[in-house]
Amino acid sequence: MAAAMTSTPASSNGTQRRRRVLMFPLPFQGHINPMMQLAGALHARGGLYVTVFHAAFNVPDPARRPAGYRFVPVGEGVPTDDLIPSGSDADIAGALLRINERLAGPFRDLLRRELAGAEKEEPPPACLVVDSNLRSMQLVAEELGVPTLVLRTGGAACLVAYMAFPAICDKGLLPPPTQDQSQWDMALSELPPLRLRDMVFSTPTSHANMSKCLKCLVECSRCSSGIILNTFLELEEPELQKVPNGLGVSINAIGPVHKISSVADGSLIVQDRACLEWLDKQEADSVLYVSFGSVASLKEKELLEIAWGLANSETPFLWVIRHNLVQSTQHVSLSDGFEEATHGRGIIVSWAPQQEVLGHHAVGGFWTHNGWNSTIESISEGVPMICRPQFADQMINTRYVQEVWKIGFELQGKLERKMIERAVQRLFFEEEGREMRRRAMNLRKKVVKCMEEGGSSKASVDLLHKKIIVMILRLPHSSIRFSALRHLLYSGIRVAVSGGCGQQLCSAVF
Ligand code: UDX
Repeated sequence: MAAAMTSTPASSNGTQRRRRVLMFPLPFQGHINPMMQLAGALHARGGLYVTVFHAAFNVPDPARRPAGYRFVPVGEGVPTDDLIPSGSDADIAGALLRINERLAGPFRDLLRRELAGAEKEEPPPACLVVDSNLRSMQLVAEELGVPTLVLRTGGAACLVAYMAFPAICDKGLLPPPTQDQSQWDMALSELPPLRLRDMVFSTPTSHANMSKCLKCLVECSRCSSGIILNTFLELEEPELQKVPNGLGVSINAIGPVHKISSVADGSLIVQDRACLEWLDKQEADSVLYVSFGSVASLKEKELLEIAWGLANSETPFLWVIRHNLVQSTQHVSLSDGFEEATHGRGIIVSWAPQQEVLGHHAVGGFWTHNGWNSTIESISEGVPMICRPQFADQMINTRYVQEVWKIGFELQGKLERKMIERAVQRLFFEEEGREMRRRAMNLRKKVVKCMEEGGSSKASVDLLHKKIIVMILRLPHSSIRFSALRHLLYSGIRVAVSGGCGQQLCSAVF
């Protein structure tokens, strides 16, 4: 990875100022990827060393860690069985709350140790970039005087919706007053094009847990020194304007972050690259790529309907069947005849190099669960979507794909082979699908532009890098050790020391 130090600001004694950026991703694939890509983008701009704090489960593979980064496991020995949600029937919000509860203590000890490293020859920490779901880690950082930036891995529309969540509850609309799901289609006048159902995180999650989780997420964003969003101005300008207005915090829209970073692979599962060779043999825009991300799941019956929907569609397909995609079994068997019916026309892999697959000229459509990474990766390559959201932000993303950007459509209701066959037909062979592809290609052009010199996201990452280099540590009075302070000052680092109630005792700003 390039680590040119050209833009590094000089300190007062003429030496290059080097800082360490601390990062703490939520321990799930869809959150680790953008955090590692952000680390890559910042590191490549020079002057920043990287320390990645990570949960002791879902650990980034040591063989694929970028050279020169430090990885610090947090919570070794902490029970993890109920921290890893799986599938659409999982209590995601409950798991997020437990992760916060269990990792905060161990993180405090490790962060103290990291700060003590500033006494030695180590470049001193500038700030912690923390996932917006990790409010407890932010509180620990605040307690130890480390400023935080928050990485919101979802889109801006989703953050705006979560900011509006308490007001919708106050109106008595949430939790949905009845189990009658027809009422769930009610339009939310304050959040077009969203409906009540799009705000229901997941049915097994209790309203209390969901409210608590979203409150923490919004608080985390509000209490930060800035919010970093994996989106781009030209995609979500109205929503991006609402975030600083509502939270009073500056934002950096730097997405699609995978396009701006030299770190390609934060994958927790080994990607099967052979499928790229298979794609090489297919015609342009002919293949449907099918993948539901890293957490969503299916019932066995649904898997079979998908299999036969794909078989009957007579369209080439590349389908990701993850080891835990099907609920309550690791052994997936597709029925007799499927293999023969699709031979030569379809392949199944357990994990794909998704960004490369979507960028391959043979791929003409993506059947997705609309996790935000999948959504923005598809937009980046101009690939229209068939949407089947399951939980969290996925319904919100689907609404924007269908109603705002008009680059895909939702597959609603019970999954049946006939409707799947029909959806594939609509996307690949009808005028409506061709229009979606044209609009998706237009968005792709905007992605290319926002990454160029002077483009919105490129400029935003450059600004973010500059901001981090000059961030001020606010060491609490009680934790000040003279040698640490002296080291920081000699490094040309801005340091503020505060006593109780934020009272400033000493400020040394270079
Ligand atoms: C989760 C939530 O489901 C999602 O709603 C939220 O927006 C982010 O966290 P996940 O289910 O993993 O994410 O989906 P997604 O956000 O799409 O992220 C999946 C990532 O895994 C993508 O970066 C994708 O490129 C990668 N991937 C997926 C692969 O590398 N190979 C695959 O075969 C499938």
